[in-house]
Amino acid sequence: MIDLTKYSIAGVEDLNSPGLVLFQDALEHNLAESIRLCGGPDRWRPHVKTHKTREIVRRQLELGVTKHKCATIAEAEMLAQEQAPEVLIAYQLVGPNVQRLVKLIDLFPRTRFATVVDHPDAASHLGQALNERGREVEVLLDLNSGMDRTGIPLNQQALELYELISTTPGLRPGGLHWYDGHQRDPDPRQRRLSVMQGWEQFIGFRDRLLLNGFEVPRIVAAGSGSFAIIAETEEPGLELSPGTTTLYDVDYLERFPDMNFRPAVAILTRVVSHSGGNRMTLDVGHKSCAADQPAGKRLYFPALPDAREMHHTEEHLVLETADAKNYSIGDSLLAFPRHVCPTMHVHQSAAIISAGTQIATWPITARDRRLTI
Ligand SMILES: Cc1ncc(COP(=O)(O)O)c(C=O)c1O
Repeated sequence: MIDLTKYSIAGVEDLNSPGLVLFQDALEHNLAESIRLCGGPDRWRPHVKTHKTREIVRRQLELGVTKHKCATIAEAEMLAQEQAPEVLIAYQLVGPNVQRLVKLIDLFPRTRFATVVDHPDAASHLGQALNERGREVEVLLDLNSGMDRTGIPLNQQALELYELISTTPGLRPGGLHWYDGHQRDPDPRQRRLSVMQGWEQFIGFRDRLLLNGFEVPRIVAAGSGSFAIIAETEEPGLELSPGTTTLYDVDYLERFPDMNFRPAVAILTRVVSHSGGNRMTLDVGHKSCAADQPAGKRLYFPALPDAREMHHTEEHLVLETADAKNYSIGDSLLAFPRHVCPTMHVHQSAAIISAGTQIATWPITARDRRLTI
């Protein structure tokens, strides 16, 4: 496993805290490893929600990645501003977001947009909005992989919904969406069995569509836990969509011992209060890191492997550690988030660290819900 105590920053006294630091060497390693495991840049459709930054999109484009996935209209707009050729909004659009997609299509003719549906009402509404404007959008059928979040089960209704997509003016059937984000078994063999069990059912459904005369031009599938397994199959039109592998985090590092990714993002924090005992208080409250994990399990401090997160409030974290005596007010520490994606989202920018020093600052552009549309 990667040694996180080796991550260091020269000139750390000039960096604000709490603040995001992004280690470029780890990012580059993760981009190369993601592409390798996908089997080439043309089979990777990275989810932008992990980093939400233009600069990483640009780097992915340079590396030959032309297909991207996102969840929000703001992320889609940022991708289109960067002239990403193909953008899939993997989120069923309802309410004003339907018209926002129509605007995106109007404003960015160089980008081909696509989206997903799992319900006939959403398909009809979307088709109507696009058709009224004389436009068409590619639509993937979102299937329930067993994650039970979104997606229609693999049944007759799913077949009928694909038919509806195929016959609704304004919509163009693009294929299938299969996100199996629940596949997180730490035992690589068990995970493989479980991923492939789901995948065989999925392929059975895809084959049923083909037998019924439908075309399935693309399959957008998988997250970080399953993509390397599914990538070994040679299905036509297959695109793998892990997002977290771009930056990686401590949760996945501990959960997937079989993977060779490196956490690329940490939060720089400082001691702001010290009782003199084995407790000290840092400025990394839950407004500066992801708080979706249970309290006590949100951060990892490589310099303090015994540290316990005792009390987490908006701007403070009380740590208990035998090493507290070695720290003074103002001393800095690196805290690695257990969940990187929502951690990026709560910061305005990240300091980019290359070979141990800051070389740039990148804004987290698509943390905003709205850019211009
Ligand atoms: C629809 C969809 N696709 C892909 C991903 C990326 O998965 P991961 O974060 O495991 O890489 C996510 C993550 O939430 C997702 O919701």
